[in-house]
Amino acid sequence: MSMTAKRRLHDIYQLTDFEKAVKRYLPKAVYEYVRNGAGAELSLRRNRAIFQRYLWRPYRLRDVSSLNTKITLFGEEYAQPFGLAPTGGAAMTRYDADRIEAAAARRHNLFYALSANSLTPLEEIIRINPRTWFAAYLPSDLGVIDGMIDRVQKAGYPVLLITCDVPVPAQRIAETRAGYSMPIRPNLRATIGGILNPGWTFGTLGRTILRDRNPKIVNIRPQGGPGLFSNEIAAVGGSPHFTWDHIRHIRRRWKGKLILKGILRPEDAEEAARIGVDGIGISDHGARLLDSTVSPLEVLPEIRKAARDMSVVIDSGFRCGGDVLKAMALGADAVMLGRPFLQACALAGSAGLDKAVSILSTEINRDLALLGVTDLASLDASLLRDLGTMSFAERAPETT
Ligand SMILES: Cc1cc2nc3c(=O)[nH]c(=O)nc-3n(C[C@H](O)[C@H](O)[C@H](O)COP(=O)(O)O)c2cc1C
Repeated sequence: MSMTAKRRLHDIYQLTDFEKAVKRYLPKAVYEYVRNGAGAELSLRRNRAIFQRYLWRPYRLRDVSSLNTKITLFGEEYAQPFGLAPTGGAAMTRYDADRIEAAAARRHNLFYALSANSLTPLEEIIRINPRTWFAAYLPSDLGVIDGMIDRVQKAGYPVLLITCDVPVPAQRIAETRAGYSMPIRPNLRATIGGILNPGWTFGTLGRTILRDRNPKIVNIRPQGGPGLFSNEIAAVGGSPHFTWDHIRHIRRRWKGKLILKGILRPEDAEEAARIGVDGIGISDHGARLLDSTVSPLEVLPEIRKAARDMSVVIDSGFRCGGDVLKAMALGADAVMLGRPFLQACALAGSAGLDKAVSILSTEINRDLALLGVTDLASLDASLLRDLGTMSFAERAPETT
């Protein structure tokens, strides 16, 4: 581990520490792009507070000397029940973040989804990590959809995840106020942020431009892709014309496993099951889209039921081992985390991700033992006391 990484990581004890620590090293526009949520950030706070709804009822005097945290998801075995969520724009937070994340997931035997909103060709990422999932933002044009499916299939991706919750671009005020924009447009606040953070300006932005000349979102279209500075970049994201008909079409063409991410209603899970989708991602996109939605954790039990034999992955607001175990007890098959891994990578690259994985794995092992449970399959709702739906607003801690 480099001295810089060591220094930056020395005071990190929990995943929420990454957000505080990385603030010093990123321009405000980039820091806020990762941290912020939509609107008044009510959902961002609620996604944390919702974990207070469930309290543990641990068993005592059971032999917990040997624990098993492995899961099997889409026919593959992973070391832990958590994985790295797709996060667009990762390479803006650290030079080469897409490759660093893919390699870390492989090293630790975790699942990882590459966002279509990325700078590294998907064909290279699958060589680094052959079990990478591809997280697509698709338009409604069937020709483009077919071209993308064929490209991802030819590259050898085993899992296609469709991000279903972005029919129109969201509004996030903190990042906009700090000068973040797509396409990138020079503005006073962003420029000041760059000057105040020369480490990022030269080490991340400068190096990326030096390598790519005109960095492009290369995985959003069958060929090419819009540059970070071009107006065409509005195409990055979903389409208001994209519907269940497109999912039916995709299901017929895509031979691998198919996941729909962004589901928050049981009816949508039922429709996905009817179409033959393999898994659903219960998610509010980390509170980055529609503010004041239900939190994924509180709709998990009803969606689990509706999902029948589909796999259920959940994300949004998970920050410690206990959070992950609560979702497993309520019926999730796995949990994805977005910001903590992105911030860990931005702070200290591979070493940052190693630390994040180590913290979360250690917490999961410790909490299982403290619960008196030796394997994840034994987690169920009887381990939890449900305080019921209530307003958490007044008790919401900080956003992290
Ligand atoms: C900076 C950032 C970029 C994201 N980009 C994508 C994306 O391209 N595709 C997608 O499906 N979800 C994207 N997400 C959402 C994550 O996949 C995930 O749902 C969310 O981060 C989970 O919440 P958490 O950050 O609280 O863990 C992004 C999230 C962040 C923070």
